[in-house]
Amino acid sequence: MCGIIGYVGQQQASPILLEGLRRLEYRGYDSAGIAVIDDGEMLVRKKKGNIAEGIARELGANPVSGMMGIAHTRWATHGPPSDENSHPHLDASGRIAVVHNGIIENFEQIRSHLTKNGHTFRSTTDTEVLAHLIGECYEKRTADGAAGNPLADAVCEALRDVIGTYGLAVISTEHPDVIVGARRGSPLIIGIGNGENFLTSDANAVIAHTKQVVFLNDYDVATVTADRFDVVNLGADTADVQVRELEFEAEDSERGEYAHFMLKEIFEQPRTVENALRGRVDHEGATAVFGGLNMEPSELRSIQRIIIAASGTSWHAALLGEYLIESLAHVPVEVEFAHEFCYRMAPVRRDTVLVVISQSGETADTLMALREAKRRGHKALAIVNVVGSTIAREADGGIYMHAGPEIGVASTKAFIATLTALTLLAVHLGRMRMLSAGRAEEVLKGLEALPAQIEGLLAQSDVIKRIAEKYSTADDFFFLGRGYSFPAALEGALKLKEISYIHAEGYSAAEMKHGPIALIDEKTPTVVLVPADAMYDKTMANLEMIRARKGPVIALATEGDTQIAEVADDVMYIPQALEPLNPILASVLLQLFAYHIAVARGCDVDKPRNLAKSVTVQ
Ligand code: F6R
Repeated sequence: MCGIIGYVGQQQASPILLEGLRRLEYRGYDSAGIAVIDDGEMLVRKKKGNIAEGIARELGANPVSGMMGIAHTRWATHGPPSDENSHPHLDASGRIAVVHNGIIENFEQIRSHLTKNGHTFRSTTDTEVLAHLIGECYEKRTADGAAGNPLADAVCEALRDVIGTYGLAVISTEHPDVIVGARRGSPLIIGIGNGENFLTSDANAVIAHTKQVVFLNDYDVATVTADRFDVVNLGADTADVQVRELEFEAEDSERGEYAHFMLKEIFEQPRTVENALRGRVDHEGATAVFGGLNMEPSELRSIQRIIIAASGTSWHAALLGEYLIESLAHVPVEVEFAHEFCYRMAPVRRDTVLVVISQSGETADTLMALREAKRRGHKALAIVNVVGSTIAREADGGIYMHAGPEIGVASTKAFIATLTALTLLAVHLGRMRMLSAGRAEEVLKGLEALPAQIEGLLAQSDVIKRIAEKYSTADDFFFLGRGYSFPAALEGALKLKEISYIHAEGYSAAEMKHGPIALIDEKTPTVVLVPADAMYDKTMANLEMIRARKGPVIALATEGDTQIAEVADDVMYIPQALEPLNPILASVLLQLFAYHIAVARGCDVDKPRNLAKSVTVQ
């Protein structure tokens, strides 16, 4: 959350920064701002609200010129969304500007220390405190005539007093050719151009300008000018600087003809599955192959237990991973919310491998879980989408989702890519144990059939839309499923609540009768996932319990089910598939269902209230 971009070069900075902000808006849309240095003057424009209605309009009315600057789009942590709390923040002199992603945990102490020194603050943010602290360090250094690069040195000195997380960019009118960046816990990337350079929180913001990037590490401080960059590490003698090539195109992160990024990404899912499968299916050996697990077959063979840690949608994928790995590979799996795993100090057996799942590869809770497992001496693998992200770099090995940039704040294609990868992993581990070649082949062929099946589901979008519109005024929803359909029900409920603001709960269909059924009435629709599987009869019995209490029922069933239309008010159909693959198909329909309800309610699907992509704070 919070997006950062900085530019230094030969072009006007503000159009580049504004375009970068547009590409970063999924990281926060409470406010946005830019600071540009022109002829020794710091020009700051910032505004509450989203980019089009806020900063873009402000820049239209009050343009700025200058060849370098920094910009920020905000997801509020300390201090409500307002013009004053928008970034950039200035130091006491007004000559230093700072944009920041993260949380300064000891900002109250620093603020009271600075207040005693005569500083006054215009905002209620932690970032303004940091700006003043950097300013004070800078004044001290220049007054003492200290040698070196005073702005970068002031940033380093200030950060020694800071507890918390940051990805930040700092500029000063005294050094109009330099951007100083620093990271701890929040991503920061240098984009290397030709006679121009960038500093950003997401590669997505610079992809239209360059594919050459350096992912900074924790405690790195970078000094970036138009034609060079230098990196030092506050905790080590040398910084580990590697120039990498981005593997996606600018168009991949554009909305194209679709009304919303979410819809575009739902419709990309046939390709998502293909990309997640590419090069990983070995029909000859009836298994899946991976290039990056970085574990010997003997090590994989001796795994006795797996813990999967993740958050949100990725946690739902993890739960499906548990079902897949336990049933196909017979390895016991435990699923943890990443943040709980970090802090509850659960005893973990020594032969356990941790797998974390993260689309962004930057989720703070998940990163902490990975570090905790490594600290305890466990092997830690990651299933990640964003190449070069912190989790991808810190994991011992893992699997890339290859879903391409996911811009929609509500995760869709990354979920489907993860399920594809987890099914492959379950086959891989299973084939080292007791999974027969015949059963493995069935699953692999089932996976390969998915892209065409998903195309068929997408062609039903208008049918789903009609059903969605019928129920779009409901205040509460239930989503029920058993077995493999249970995690899919949880994910269906999450999708609906986050983009439509309808209260929605996912439950095991069996669990419903143990309490939540008290809430069923004629105004509360329930989506019952009842595909043709081993749980069918039992789930049908649960469906009848809802009908008996006059609850409207939307069933999600398998084509060819002749009974379901008689008992459900509406039915969404998935094609025949293997039981473990049903959740992938069901989830595509539930994504469409949530999407069409949100649109019918007039919600801004790509900017859901209070949310932002990539939760980089704990
Ligand atoms: C929901 C959603 C979030 C994320 C969660 C973890 O649609 O997007 O629940 O799944 O914040 O994010 P990643 O997977 O990036 O770690």
